[in-house]
Amino acid sequence: MQLQLMKSTYQALQAELCGSQKTWLITGVAGFIGSNLLETLLKLKQRVIGLDNFATGHQRNLDEVERLVGGEQWRQFDFHEGDIRNPDDCRKVCQGVDYVLHQAALGSVPRSLEDPVTTNSANITGFLNMLVAARAAAVKRFVYAASSSTYGDHPGLPKVEDKIGKPISPYAVTKYVNELYAEVFARSYGFESIGLRYFNVFGPRQDPTGAYAAVIPKWTAAMIADQPIYINGDGETSRDFCYIANTVQANLLAATTLAPAAWNQVYNVALGDRTTLKELFAALQSSLANNGIHYRRDPAHRDFRAGDVRHSLADIGKARRLLGYQPTDPIGKGLHESMAWYIARLQGTA
Ligand SMILES: NC(=O)c1ccc[n+]([C@@H]2O[C@H](COP(=O)([O-])OP(=O)(O)OC[C@H]3O[C@@H](n4cnc5c(N)ncnc54)[C@H](O)[C@@H]3O)[C@@H](O)[C@H]2O)c1
Repeated sequence: MQLQLMKSTYQALQAELCGSQKTWLITGVAGFIGSNLLETLLKLKQRVIGLDNFATGHQRNLDEVERLVGGEQWRQFDFHEGDIRNPDDCRKVCQGVDYVLHQAALGSVPRSLEDPVTTNSANITGFLNMLVAARAAAVKRFVYAASSSTYGDHPGLPKVEDKIGKPISPYAVTKYVNELYAEVFARSYGFESIGLRYFNVFGPRQDPTGAYAAVIPKWTAAMIADQPIYINGDGETSRDFCYIANTVQANLLAATTLAPAAWNQVYNVALGDRTTLKELFAALQSSLANNGIHYRRDPAHRDFRAGDVRHSLADIGKARRLLGYQPTDPIGKGLHESMAWYIARLQGTA
């Protein structure tokens, strides 16, 4: 059928990028999402500048990308250790950049409840510094990591971009303020940006350690080490878990879209399907069992966590329509690929 032979927007974009080198800036490049963007862009023969202060990112993520892409591609990468809270650092890295993929921020709802000031300075002051620097450098497009936390207490499901509630954590406030600043920069200065509201991204290089680890890496690490697992609440809390390959796709499409209707918008970036914590537990157990790791404990339940929304499910129609976004990896495939990486990392063979 002709339809199946047609390339997706993303496949066409990848082919086009391979034939024309652009310069990209990734902030938060040593983190989970940043390092995956780096890997993809270097494999597509792009030139990449990276900025990170290693607040939550790791040199080992950069080392792994170097191993995966090889020496020739790696030489197209220029890393700056620096801080988005410092306007000079932002100015330096924006020089000569075509597209900015702004990922640097302090994630985690609990972290923001414990230390709202530090979260605010990285996520709001840092964001504003980056907008100012990117505008001064006349970059073509500023794509930034927004968040599904912006839906706050709005009960509607699935989440649609223009129906948001009140934020229920300091982290959510910061991510919403990012959207407001981006909108005002578009109105006031004609500066083009696109916000991507990520919904629970997961995949290789997502940090399994520390008090603020996300649920998939945290549970995977516990299962591999045969440690107890705690479910916050009754286990019916649900999330739209999105494999990193889909998130990378959305970033590249957003940075390069030539359709004016797609500019200065925010988009849900997710799979468009939801999984409860109970289902996630079972899926991780079975995915690890396929790799010879058998976790036989039952999860223990404890209280719901403050600041957490009950259900999260994205309507991804807007990103499909305006960006040509087509998620390629359902949760099962994503978990399969992630488990192989975690086993190698946590059992010491990576
Ligand atoms: N992972 C998710 O599910 C998810 C969901 C919604 C939104 N997001 C957003 O996506 C972005 C990337 O998240 P991630 O999961 O890769 O987290 P991550 O912690 O792995 O990456 C964030 C990176 O930003 C860097 N950073 C933090 N503060 C900085 C500063 N002041 N200056 C320079 N670098 C700094 C960190 O060192 C780290 O490398 C963040 O903006 C986050 O809020 C992530």
